[in-house]
Amino acid sequence: MEIRLARLSDIALLPEIERSAGRAFLGSSQAAVSSDTVSPASYYRPLIPEGRVWVATEDGKPFGFACVEAFEDALHLWEVAVRLDAQKRGAGRALVMAVAADARARRLPAVTLTTFRDIAWNGPFYAGLGFVEVPQAQANPRLAALPAHEAALGLDVANRCIMRLAL
Ligand SMILES: CC(C)(COP(=O)(O)OP(=O)(O)OC[C@H]1O[C@@H](n2cnc3c(N)ncnc32)[C@H](O)[C@@H]1OP(=O)(O)O)[C@@H](O)C(=O)NCCC(=O)NCCS
Repeated sequence: MEIRLARLSDIALLPEIERSAGRAFLGSSQAAVSSDTVSPASYYRPLIPEGRVWVATEDGKPFGFACVEAFEDALHLWEVAVRLDAQKRGAGRALVMAVAADARARRLPAVTLTTFRDIAWNGPFYAGLGFVEVPQAQANPRLAALPAHEAALGLDVANRCIMRLAL
């Protein structure tokens, strides 16, 4: 396995990775997330030249990815996804660690994200990597605004949490 920045030639594979990864939620308390609605390949086209997409590859072919955006206070991890048949082999952890190294290289003080508190491969997974939950009342305005945005997208915000990894 190799972790590297995505190339434009990778983008056709990313929607299928997201779709497959989402199937992890089937039968979980957040089964609605396993919908087939995924970002189209075109979504990633402007992000890749900006160095905002990391991929996990096998024989050069991506099977997992992470999308980030730099803010003044942190590198925000918008999404991490690993194809269902390749999960639980360390790729998710390696992608999040690459994002943390990216944040350090950009001299940003933290990695932030929102996730489900009640899903083993979400909140507990990030906690195991050193992320700490940020109560909404203590979050900065950028982060505090995210739950309302996610509610509008139909996510179960009662079980969403904001997490931060201090670097
Ligand atoms: C989150 C995700 C990217 C992790 O990818 P992965 O390659 O399976 O991650 P890893 O193999 O590095 O596993 C990391 C830890 O997650 C936990 N984990 C992963 N899948 C799990 C599962 N199905 N059930 C329980 N725990 C699980 C394990 O505790 C594992 O820790 P361990 O190494 O001590 O066993 C992957 O599960 C995924 O794509 N899920 C669907 C999309 C998603 O939830 N994205 C995150 C949204 S915030």
